[in-house]
Amino acid sequence: MIGDKCLIQATLHQLKVFETTARLGSFTKAAEELDITQPTVSSQVKQLTKTVGLPLFEQIGKQLYLTTAGKELLHTCQDVFSQLDNFEMKVADLKGTKEGKLSLSVITTATYFIPRILGAFCQIYPDIDIALQVTNHKQIQERMLNNQDDLYILSQPPEEIDLKSQPFIDNPLVAIARKDHPLAVKHNIPLKDLQDYPFIMRESGSGTRKAVQKLLNQHNIEVKVRLELGSNEAIKQAVLGGLGLSVLSKHTLTSTCYDDLTILDVQNFPIPRHWYISYLAGKQLSVIAETFFNFLLDRTQFIEV
Ligand code: PGA
Repeated sequence: MIGDKCLIQATLHQLKVFETTARLGSFTKAAEELDITQPTVSSQVKQLTKTVGLPLFEQIGKQLYLTTAGKELLHTCQDVFSQLDNFEMKVADLKGTKEGKLSLSVITTATYFIPRILGAFCQIYPDIDIALQVTNHKQIQERMLNNQDDLYILSQPPEEIDLKSQPFIDNPLVAIARKDHPLAVKHNIPLKDLQDYPFIMRESGSGTRKAVQKLLNQHNIEVKVRLELGSNEAIKQAVLGGLGLSVLSKHTLTSTCYDDLTILDVQNFPIPRHWYISYLAGKQLSVIAETFFNFLLDRTQFIEV
């Protein structure tokens, strides 16, 4: 537990140095990011440790670990800096400008439209800096638990996290094969026929995989997974390479380079899903995050399905 009112003596600069070191897990990287020397980082952290009265880091070998007090302090710092960022954005808004930061995490398939929406957004609001993370569902969930972003775009908002979510467009999953695959000419293919061919699956932690697995489990079907890949693009290349069938979001097929792929007419497909834009229920959205939230919902008609 952090000592009584000790943090009053800590400077914002010390907290920033600590937060950066904790986030990056390295004194050297923190020094680089903050553009100060490594001895300065060490001495700031040392002074803060003295003020707190408990170790904040533990160094084991080359690895830097946060202690329990360090983890508590990291959460506190993140709250403080996010409140200060919000305040700056509100001030800019009061001055009639929109400037500040927007931190966005999106699932892999949202990359097929998000950059275009962000492009249009940045044209209207050139003073907004955007940090965009593209990752799978499991990692987005971890980012939510650490309160790392303003907004999240995903297709399966986790039930165990208290979120406010707004669905905005369909994100169906389709079964795909190369055009010369024996199933490509068939109609109304029974789901169980997928068992007869090699299958390419997304990595564990992927929402696509979870949805496919759920459907297969419901029908007691086990496919022969020949390959697991962590990217939608790699899966399309593997299907084109004749390595098997797969299931992907229909949005991943928009490019004409994939003319040799076809959507199979399999029973129970497409698997219906939506994209959602979500944020932590307890979080007060910044002016910028709220502006982007509304902008995205206004622009959904421009997203090709
Ligand atoms: P995933 O999500 O990258 O976690 O599979 C993609 C999607 O659900 O569309």
